[in-house]
Amino acid sequence: MSKLFSPLTLGTVTFRNRIFVSPMCQYSSREGFPTDWHLVHLGSRAVGGAGLVMVEATAVAPEGRISPDDSGIWSDAQGEAFRPIARFIAGQGAVPGIQLAHAGRKASTDKPWNGGGPLSMDERGWQPEAPSGLPFAEGHPLPKELTIPELDVLEEQFRLAARRSLAAGFQVVEIHMAHGYLLHEFLSPLTNHRTDEYGGSFENRIRFPLRVVRAVREESPADLPLFVRLSVVDWLEGGWDLGQSVLLTRRMKTLGVNLVDCSAGFAVPEEQIPAGPGFLVPFSAAIRSAVAIPTGAVGLITDPAQAEQIIATGQADVVSLARQLLRDPYWPLHAAKALGVEMPWPDQYLRAK
Ligand SMILES: Cc1cc2nc3c(=O)[nH]c(=O)nc-3n(C[C@H](O)[C@H](O)[C@H](O)COP(=O)(O)O)c2cc1C
Repeated sequence: MSKLFSPLTLGTVTFRNRIFVSPMCQYSSREGFPTDWHLVHLGSRAVGGAGLVMVEATAVAPEGRISPDDSGIWSDAQGEAFRPIARFIAGQGAVPGIQLAHAGRKASTDKPWNGGGPLSMDERGWQPEAPSGLPFAEGHPLPKELTIPELDVLEEQFRLAARRSLAAGFQVVEIHMAHGYLLHEFLSPLTNHRTDEYGGSFENRIRFPLRVVRAVREESPADLPLFVRLSVVDWLEGGWDLGQSVLLTRRMKTLGVNLVDCSAGFAVPEEQIPAGPGFLVPFSAAIRSAVAIPTGAVGLITDPAQAEQIIATGQADVVSLARQLLRDPYWPLHAAKALGVEMPWPDQYLRAK
């Protein structure tokens, strides 16, 4: 009996298996609106058998985009534009999810295939906003330090983005608290040098991210799952670490977070990442056992037996795959075959099974 292909229920939502499509920016939106690319790209992965298809980091405010062509949900019209995407994903038996994000000081950059560097004002760029006026790296712009009234606005932007997401038909909302973007910038002492009640002590650094969790939770019916993606460590001495992630996750569990997706890093360019197959899985295992909360494992998970082993040994409740699902949108159908699991194919494709 495969554990990877056993269903998982969180709240009233049942995932047909534990293979999740990790959120992946496509740099293919127009003024924040998703395009045909998104319907086909995300739709293919739902057809391919994933349990959940998560829409890319979707900005809650225009300044929160990583690049000008990132997805956004800062208007009702954008929310409506996601409706056919959520409907198609659900129609294929996958759960539609959306990651809500603000890029903080890492905003206003070019698409990766154009080099990914910072964009100036006359190249469709803008001044990024962050907890502290510290640029990400040399050559990156000085971010504007957010004021307390601006934090009130941001909290409201996350709240409204969650409301629009649920109205569009998404059944899972994920708060992006990882990868050196705004909420992670509040958490990490490397990026948060504030001297007010939002910086300094652990309690102060988690204050704004927890405000966002509360606001988004208030918007979501209690039976719909709320996920958080966390960078569990900064990979640098003096940075955010596993101990703090455990303490924060305990608090988020009390506030009604249902699953923590355990990523790591990308707050500062000096980090030292020991990448290798499944290298982040121990973080998921540690949080899961310390906090007793469902977790997701991510990072260089590519092989069906490896994914099965992660779930079967209790190191995670789900696996999130990114690049392997770009190589093969039908990976879940192929993994089922490799593991000897009978998984229904879409009727339209049955003659190829
Ligand atoms: C093209 C691309 C876009 C990505 N965009 C996002 C994103 O929007 N949000 C996010 O949390 N992670 C993003 N990531 C990170 C992935 O979700 C994932 O955590 C990472 O690629 C490691 O998983 P993998 O080894 O299976 O690729 C992106 C990765 C890729 C390759």
